Amino acid sequence: MNIIEPELLSRLLYQFNIFLKGLSAIPLNIPGTQYHCAMRATDMIRKELQLLLRRRRLELEMKVASPMEDILTYLLVNADENGKLLPEADIVNEMFGLLFAGHDTMRSAISLLIKYLGEQPRVHEKVFQG
Ligand code: HEM
Repeated sequence: MNIIEPELLSRLLYQFNIFLKGLSAIPLNIPGTQYHCAMRATDMIRKELQLLLRRRRLELEMKVASPMEDILTYLLVNADENGKLLPEADIVNEMFGLLFAGHDTMRSAISLLIKYLGEQPRVHEKVFQG
């Protein structure tokens, strides 16, 4: 998604962690519960992604972003199997799904990689030699 602004990244990470806690919470959507906080965090994340989407759309129109820039621009310019562009809400959902799919998987893969490289100095050396 090519998000490089540190403020946006930290806002997303903050809300995302609240959302993650809600996944294992009792589904009681009452103010004050973990689940309710997670639902609100989900709304915030969707709003942030929608703003990002609109900004990227403008960048595409102004030709400062390319259609192959990232998955977001790709989804914005490519039609579905019926020849229609995806609605904004669908693209936001798609991006949310990708954030979720890539979050813990990548985090644990990178953590394990660093752990094993730390335990295997010879391998570590070879990796950095290229
Ligand atoms: C080391 C990192 C990752 C691992 C180990 C991993 C593992 C997996 C596995 C096992 C599945 C299949 C789940 C199933 O069918 O039951 C899956 C599906 C998927 N993963 Fe990952 N994943 C990783 C990173 C990512 C990243 C970075 C993204 C996106 C940014 C991603 C997006 C997806 C999506 C969209 C699917 C569903 C595909 C489909 O069935 O349509 N994954 N992943």
